[in-house]
Amino acid sequence: MCGITAYVGNDNALPFLLQGLVKLEYRGYDSAGVTIIDSANKINTYKAKGRIKNLEELLEGNHVEGKIGIGHTRWATHGVPSNLNAHPHTNNTYTISIVHNGIIENYQELKKDLIEKGYHFNSQTDSEVVVHLLDYYYHGDMHEALKKVISIIEGSYALCVVHNDNPNVIYITKKDSPIVLGRTQTASLAGSDIPAILDYAKDVYFMEDGEIAVLTKDDITFYDADDKLIQKELIHIPYDNEAAQKGGYDSFMLKEIHEQPYVIKETLRGRVENGDRVVLPELDAIHDKLPSYNKAYFVACGTAYHSSIFGASVLEKLAGIPTITQVASEFRYNDPIVDENTLAFFVSQSGETADTMAALRLAKQKGATTIAIVNVLGSSISREADYTIYTLAGPEIAVASTKAYTTQIVVMELVAMYIAQALNRNSYDYRKLIEGLSSLPAYLEEILKDEEIFKGYAKLLEHERDCYYIGRGLDYASVLEGALKVKEVSYIHADAYVAGELKHGPIALIEEGSIVIAVATQPNIASKTISNIQETIARGARVVLFTIEGLDVQGVENTYILPNVDQLLQGILVAVPLQLIAYYTAVFKNCDVDKPRNLAKSVTVE
Ligand code: F6R
Repeated sequence: MCGITAYVGNDNALPFLLQGLVKLEYRGYDSAGVTIIDSANKINTYKAKGRIKNLEELLEGNHVEGKIGIGHTRWATHGVPSNLNAHPHTNNTYTISIVHNGIIENYQELKKDLIEKGYHFNSQTDSEVVVHLLDYYYHGDMHEALKKVISIIEGSYALCVVHNDNPNVIYITKKDSPIVLGRTQTASLAGSDIPAILDYAKDVYFMEDGEIAVLTKDDITFYDADDKLIQKELIHIPYDNEAAQKGGYDSFMLKEIHEQPYVIKETLRGRVENGDRVVLPELDAIHDKLPSYNKAYFVACGTAYHSSIFGASVLEKLAGIPTITQVASEFRYNDPIVDENTLAFFVSQSGETADTMAALRLAKQKGATTIAIVNVLGSSISREADYTIYTLAGPEIAVASTKAYTTQIVVMELVAMYIAQALNRNSYDYRKLIEGLSSLPAYLEEILKDEEIFKGYAKLLEHERDCYYIGRGLDYASVLEGALKVKEVSYIHADAYVAGELKHGPIALIEEGSIVIAVATQPNIASKTISNIQETIARGARVVLFTIEGLDVQGVENTYILPNVDQLLQGILVAVPLQLIAYYTAVFKNCDVDKPRNLAKSVTVE
């Protein structure tokens, strides 16, 4: 991942490639690169770690010119941010160059095979296998070679390919990763997202999975997945670049909420085998040591702390290891009882949070085995932990965390299953749980269709000063996160309570018209939460309830029935409506949802 540009036309390719990459900067990246084929048909590739400005400086000194080229900004997923891992990648004889967005799931076996065939790898990336495979299968026809390669690679990809044998053509294909194409009077263009090409083309082609596009300066030819020539429809983009960066959504937060089905799929990709085994090579080094751990910790801040409460519970249930969850700023000063028999998880979207980092250092010092669950590859926490497992949420731009939360829980479910399987604990039906995980993206798509319903619930909050969130067990993590989202983006005071605690104090706050948002998805205790809800209704509360089918919810004003998935997964489903309630409440109150007051995306100070 993350940004792609491509140009073939009458003019120099570089200005388009670079401006397109700049237009995609909002997505986040850690390195950038371009390949230009010059008039002597030579492939010239330049890459630079860091900002696009570094690449521009490198190019300035080299007077690069050519009418065909591909560009890329990389958000690292496999291999740290570095010049070598940056795209484009070239084959060993510098005749082919590619850029790739997505993840090649079977790259390790392909890489092994290619090394045996004599190919030399320059990077740690999964993407590099593609260029060597193209080299291997290229016998004078790149279209044929590309068809062969996409029949071998597994995973997600948007791929642009150039070969200096045919220096007037770009080949493009995709699966589960977007690519957009356009035409000017004198050129064919491509970008991984609309903003890259929108200043040049307002009418664009969207490619479908398995299609191949052949771009020349005069036209674009499309072939379907069966290699039949097809005509594609031009789609007019009715909005400007700023809106395009948000994928047509009104804000990054809304876009990121809607990205969750996709990023959950990406986070699961390649991590499950035969439908019932979890594959986490990141933990293989401690596989045999797992029986020696007598305690686990989950340490994090904010939203990551809430996903940790959830994950800790799942780990205890599946693996039977006593697990403590602690806020990082407390852990670091509490003299925690941690030793070499402790497994300590540090969870962070940014991988830079100062308190989480300090807690990680302390746990290491005390002898614990440390595991980071982070989103940003190469971040400080990922570098310092003994082992790191990445969520693949992609760049999260809105300050309020949404897709990082749900992907963190997905990773925690996988980790808990991996450890439980290593400990031979077979009391849970892993096949069913894995099936459930795989079904989440489709269920989330369904839930997202009910946006208007959640908007309606947000209307209830619009003029409130306070509101109350209640839930028990795993649902408590969900309500903590739901309440935090409302606080952060709409500035309404939202308190989350364990439902059973209401009568020990908080119920004194409930009066006529109080808003209570309740989550009751855990079959063994849902009816208890519903009794607590009745107690609030009796005191005049207006209730929004998220629950599962089959419970007696009479008298509850607003009930939303969640799809029927395993109880350990309901927290992922309910997160989305709770995020949307917070989002629309903020919108109704005219708050700046993407940049709430007083908050920063990455908290690198104590
Ligand atoms: C909430 C939010 C914050 C972060 C917290 C930890 O929406 O964004 O509470 O979750 O600052 O940040 P990371 O996960 O980057 O360590």
